[in-house]
Amino acid sequence: MADDDQAVRYDVGDHVAMITIDRPSARNALSTDVLRGLCAGLDRAEADDEIRAVVLTGGEKIFASGADIRELRTTSPAGYLQSERLAAWARFGRFPKPSIAAVAGYALGGGCELAMSCDFIVAADSATFGQPEIRLGILPGAGGTQRWARVAGRFRAAELVLAARTVDAWTAREYGLVARVVPAERVVAAGVALAGEVAAFGPVATRLSKAAVRASEELPLAGGLEHERALLGTLLSTEDHFEGIDAFLEKRSARFTGR
Ligand code: CAA
Repeated sequence: MADDDQAVRYDVGDHVAMITIDRPSARNALSTDVLRGLCAGLDRAEADDEIRAVVLTGGEKIFASGADIRELRTTSPAGYLQSERLAAWARFGRFPKPSIAAVAGYALGGGCELAMSCDFIVAADSATFGQPEIRLGILPGAGGTQRWARVAGRFRAAELVLAARTVDAWTAREYGLVARVVPAERVVAAGVALAGEVAAFGPVATRLSKAAVRASEELPLAGGLEHERALLGTLLSTEDHFEGIDAFLEKRSARFTGR
């Protein structure tokens, strides 16, 4: 696995971890090794109390071309259901800290789904999003049909999934998928800057806020509101909430500690 050995890099900045897919020879295809590397990065970021947000990127040229099509060629239905790949996708969904996808170039198939598993997407002006699985005689297997329909509406989702249409960064922003569009050479920096903004807030409030927003994908409104109230109740017992309120009243910046 010569080209996979270093396929995922992990770098640490100020309270922000950056996880970079680096497999240019296969256009950052998400092989099992790459997914394993991504999981290892998320494990490391989750375990490190200093890390408050994560940027996931493929650099300034390509985000990810999707599942590794060569691996897919030899995957049986039974193998797929038991695979490490499936476990990896579940792991992405469980990551509790805020995550930002910094997307340049293609984010196709599983690559697009990987971006959609994050909390924010910052796109380069070169970004192209799509679910071309139908061309391979399959369909998206990591949330593409469901998340596109929720974000952009069923009819736009149908165009992407059934007609294999792709959308550029601005259309993806119009659809509500993308938070902001920046020049390609600034996309990673923009992701890190957004992560830095998020990392400045209290880590417990941030985690619970993420959990509350994520729950909106799953819960009907009444259940979601109940969940939100319960999480707020938890935050009202934290030191960070006193610190946030005192800082406002004393007209100074808050110093959140995560307690
Ligand atoms: N898996 C494995 N290898 C891939 C790959 C992928 N997803 N995408 C590209 N590659 C490989 C190519 O086979 C090629 O390898 P060789 O040099 O050994 O021939 C190399 O990367 C370069 O590819 P291209 O020459 O095609 O590069 P390009 O820059 O002209 O085009 C691209 C880039 C538009 C991303 C094009 O490669 C492409 O369309 N890739 C496939 C995209 C796709 O169909 N994604 C969906 C995958 S299925 C999926 O994701 C399923 C799921 O959710 C469960």
